[in-house]
Amino acid sequence: MEESDCREDEYLYLIVDGVRYEDLPELSVENCTFSQAIVSRRRSSQLTGRLVVVNKEKISLFKYRGTVYAVDEICPHTGGPLHLGDIEELGEAKLPCIVCPWHSWKFSLQTGHLKVPHKSNVKLRTYPVRVNEKGEVYLGVKALSPDYFNGGTDF
Ligand code: FES
Repeated sequence: MEESDCREDEYLYLIVDGVRYEDLPELSVENCTFSQAIVSRRRSSQLTGRLVVVNKEKISLFKYRGTVYAVDEICPHTGGPLHLGDIEELGEAKLPCIVCPWHSWKFSLQTGHLKVPHKSNVKLRTYPVRVNEKGEVYLGVKALSPDYFNGGTDF
């Protein structure tokens, strides 16, 4: 398993309004054949990641094999909407990756690094996720958006 470069103590955790752990669809396809999984996912708009806005940033949430991952929504290639991408496991390590729906770049869900095509300097921002006993989901941010302090936003 790849190690995330997120250090827990560096983050302020913000609740994701309107999203609970049990509301996020499990995107694992281990109980289906590959073709069944692709067909069923294409037919159901429920089986995508969830686009949320936290700290004034668009973020994609995915629940995969019981773990919630959070990454930037906008693909760094040409801006594809990553919450609509499929999830694939790469290699023998079965590294979970999000596949951009526009040109199929594949990014590690754990670290955000671009895996296919390999370009070591391209990475999505990842966010640490906490889920409490009530199923509320929290994302870690390093700093509050400056928009909160310029008078244009209500808390
Ligand atoms: S916009 Fe995502 S791979 Fe091109």
